[in-house]
Amino acid sequence: MNQTFPFQSDALPYSYAALMPYCDANTLYFHHDQYYTDAVYRLNKLVVAHRLTGLDLRQLLTEKIALPPDQLSVLRDTAGLVFNHQFYFGCVCTAAGAPPINPLTQALVTTYGSIDAFRQLMVEAAQSAVGSNWLWLVSEGRKGIHLVITPNNLAVDLNSVSPILGVDLWEHAYFTMNHFDIAAYVRCWFRFIDWEAANRRYEASLTAWK
Ligand SMILES: [Fe+2]
Repeated sequence: MNQTFPFQSDALPYSYAALMPYCDANTLYFHHDQYYTDAVYRLNKLVVAHRLTGLDLRQLLTEKIALPPDQLSVLRDTAGLVFNHQFYFGCVCTAAGAPPINPLTQALVTTYGSIDAFRQLMVEAAQSAVGSNWLWLVSEGRKGIHLVITPNNLAVDLNSVSPILGVDLWEHAYFTMNHFDIAAYVRCWFRFIDWEAANRRYEASLTAWK
């Protein structure tokens, strides 16, 4: 995705039907081509209206911006919506298999005991969240990794952590396939994680946060 104004929606790196049974084609089409793409359009309108076209996406999420609280909230939510969905669609791949042995999965085993235990913790965290949220695995570099839930479309605090994994817990992401069974959704999503890309983010975080 273009990270500077004018923002453009990322193309999906796979076909609409490629993520079955985690996500059906209609859901992915609606989610990407309408919901996310519309947010990119709205973000461009907002940054023009607020004369913020010189800020990139990360700056829109992290920098102090002199706007009235209600307008700043709308701006952060829209920028977060764009960032979060961009991250989410890039978090999975069609060739995903069993988690490989790499620094990230070794850190998961060290922190949570096993990959299965980590997955179960993600499922339980998703089940415990009330409302529409995002669930993240974030890294603070050498300080460790942990799970974070952000409400609505709030992004994680990019000034202090690096997102490694992110899953959309809004019902629009899973209702058609899983109805109200968010646990089944997270378990199925887990099978499509692009572990190589996640590990690259984790290794980068080790030098970003010391
Ligand atoms: Fe979403």
